[in-house]
Amino acid sequence: MNNSHHRTCGCIIQDQILMEMVEGYRERRIEVEQACRIIESDLGGTARGAFVTVTIPVVVHVVYNAAVENISDEQIASQIRILNEDFSATNPDISDVPNFFKSLIGKSSIQFKLAKRAPDGSSTNGITRTQTTRSSFPPDEFLATGFIEPVKFDSSGGKDAWPSDKYLNMWVCNLRGGLLGYAQFPGGPAETDGVVMDYQYFGDIGTATPPFDKGRTATHEVGHYLNLRHIWGDDQNSADPCSGSDLVNDTPNQEYPSGGIPTHPRRSCGSPDMFMNYMDYTDDAGMFMFSKGQVVRMQAALEGPRASLTTSDGLTAPCG
Ligand code: ARG
Ligand code: ZN
Ligand code: CA
Repeated sequence: MNNSHHRTCGCIIQDQILMEMVEGYRERRIEVEQACRIIESDLGGTARGAFVTVTIPVVVHVVYNAAVENISDEQIASQIRILNEDFSATNPDISDVPNFFKSLIGKSSIQFKLAKRAPDGSSTNGITRTQTTRSSFPPDEFLATGFIEPVKFDSSGGKDAWPSDKYLNMWVCNLRGGLLGYAQFPGGPAETDGVVMDYQYFGDIGTATPPFDKGRTATHEVGHYLNLRHIWGDDQNSADPCSGSDLVNDTPNQEYPSGGIPTHPRRSCGSPDMFMNYMDYTDDAGMFMFSKGQVVRMQAALEGPRASLTTSDGLTAPCG
């Protein structure tokens, strides 16, 4: 991956395409934002501590062509463990957050588990495996082909989503276009909802490849799935790269996406940058925190547009 300021991010490309192609998507995104704002202001008050642990049922759809892409159950388990550490600020490298930002560390009550009950009520380990004749999957052809994501449909060499109101769908495949992964924000079409990850940037064992071999791509993409935006405000192509916002109050305004692992303090837009935040483009070993404001925003998404995940039966093992 290069670290150019103009590098495209799949998550944002997908958002832009949905804006153009899906009737009502723009309006739904605005509604989602308004609803989350109201919940956020409640959660931002003293009620914050009352947020109980929410465990999101996850299904991982491994869609592979070459055998190497058929990653192991253990590699998948490593990714789930990393998500749970990162979202609860119990990741071993949380201690590397500079003193300057320590008071802003966000600890969420959001956890993840592989599903135990499949949509048809049968028991499952939360992993599906599909062999495909496609050697790689596009996000880069979104624009050329219209809105088609073959990895998300049986009919196009991928795997259909499990009902996205009950499960967080994670597709793992060979992604082309130099993309590590991408996500759909809340408010998009149900059939394509979830995150897509390249098999080389999932978990921290097996095929995990440096410098993105610590499972942080999934942390970043699930952040988008729970309504977080990039910390630099996605304004890298605008005339004033300090004009954008991630709609979070406690993340400093930042000029551009970061790359590699910068040295703190690095300033832009008048303040030190929080380039160690999961919603930047820093290497995996250099990103290790969400902010408190980002956690409130994600929790608002789970009380609002993603609330149905919290009452899912996907984690209840079927009896008998
Ligand atoms: N969608 C982004 C990309 O493909 C993910 C970046 C995640 N960064 C990381 N250090 N894992 O570039
Ligand atoms: Zn992103
Ligand atoms: Ca910016």
